[in-house]
Amino acid sequence: MNRVVLDKQNSLGTISKNLYGNFSEHLGRCVYQGIFVGKDSPIPNVNGMRTDVVEALKKMKLPVLRWPGGCFADEYHWQDGIGPQKSRKRMVNTNWGGVVEDNSFGTHEFMEFCRQVGCEPYINGNVGSGTVREMAEWVEYLNSAGDSTVAQQRWANGHKEPFGVKFWGVGNENWGCGGNMRAEYYVHEYRRYQTFCKNYAPYKLFRIACGPSEGDTHWTEVMMQGAWRDMEGLSMHYYTVPGDWGHKGKAIDFTKEEYDTTLVKAARIEELIKAHLAVMDRFDKEHRVGLIVDEWGTWYDVEEGTNPGFLYQQNTMRDAMVAALTLNIFNNHCDRVVMANIAQMVNVLQAVILTEGDKMVLTPTYHVFEMYKEHQDAWQIAADVLCEKTADGKLSRITASASEKDGAVTVTVANLDGENDADVRLEMDGIQASAISGRILHGNSTNAHNDFDHPDTVAPAVYTDFAQEGEDCVKLHLPACSVAVLTIKA
Ligand code: AHR
Repeated sequence: MNRVVLDKQNSLGTISKNLYGNFSEHLGRCVYQGIFVGKDSPIPNVNGMRTDVVEALKKMKLPVLRWPGGCFADEYHWQDGIGPQKSRKRMVNTNWGGVVEDNSFGTHEFMEFCRQVGCEPYINGNVGSGTVREMAEWVEYLNSAGDSTVAQQRWANGHKEPFGVKFWGVGNENWGCGGNMRAEYYVHEYRRYQTFCKNYAPYKLFRIACGPSEGDTHWTEVMMQGAWRDMEGLSMHYYTVPGDWGHKGKAIDFTKEEYDTTLVKAARIEELIKAHLAVMDRFDKEHRVGLIVDEWGTWYDVEEGTNPGFLYQQNTMRDAMVAALTLNIFNNHCDRVVMANIAQMVNVLQAVILTEGDKMVLTPTYHVFEMYKEHQDAWQIAADVLCEKTADGKLSRITASASEKDGAVTVTVANLDGENDADVRLEMDGIQASAISGRILHGNSTNAHNDFDHPDTVAPAVYTDFAQEGEDCVKLHLPACSVAVLTIKA
């Protein structure tokens, strides 16, 4: 019998709501069409922002959004994206499809989008092809309440009040598209750039240094040794690619083997988190610097017939399982992992939303984020999982996490096995339930997904296939490839 044992005495503290963040880049149809359609679009919008997308993100309680990239961040010059839209500079988006970027979505538009959604902005500055002055002045433009020429430019562009941006990234993947730097070089660049990213009272920046790719602990070591006192966060990127980078695998119509491999690879994120934290802890004994997983998710071959530079892929119950597993892992490391941003929010990679013209679809991944939202800023409760293995003994079949907020305990539990149902005993020592309710997400196959003609094939349903056994134990039956959320009221 699979067991999930909750231990209220054993908590890592608060689960930051920012673990439920998203990432949006000027890539394919993420920003343009996915978020921003312009004021004159026939698609319902407020100040150019799609109303359907804004409303869906509000329902999901999106807490934080990273922008403008990704690789795009290190070729983005913020001054090109302010002032009258029609006269903004047109540039080539060299990373993503070579399309012309007209800069009609810039700083003010991003801040307006965050305002409408009610999320915090996380802006990634340009180290790779920008200058220290450029980055310093972007911070000044955003946060200074004074009347410097740079701040006055913001007033002239319609925003007298400072924006008060907190989360600040100093470069992106500077070991790759952000300048192909060695760790030993970037650490000096990081120290120099962050020196000029000033705090304009009352706003205090939360500086995020470019961190490692996957298991590159050397990068982490160099960054921590050389700059840990000058950062609040170190980022890490990890993508789940079922095949290899040349042949990643299909987003739909995949085999059982590909399903299993995907989940085994997704589970690896926990090993990576532990490896980087072990290095970070050697320098930062008081755990002041947080690990920020600001790019994660599945990466498949693009959908046939779409621009290969646009990274558009469908999203199935397999992706929902990756999200359920990953978010549980983040919750269970919430003392050190303080922000995460799935790549990406709309129409790119493991998107929570897909759009086509005026149509919008919520993906299975969206539903997982929405079902998990009660964990945001809740008090984590240790959830020990004792379970069978699947995928030829490589994967724990069950994943779970738990938290408590406003007198209710939330437990999210998934059966990752793509073929077999699972019975799970939830042992809740010291939690006496007076009422339990639940919701479940599952499809008729691991490949189940939503498309523009069938937007509700996969959607959460009321979950009743559980029974209380005694005062503090619940027996759950979970179909293959499903995720459930239980709300337990004392
Ligand atoms: O999310 C797509 C790309 O993946 C980002 O631009 C880059 O940072 C990463 O390599």
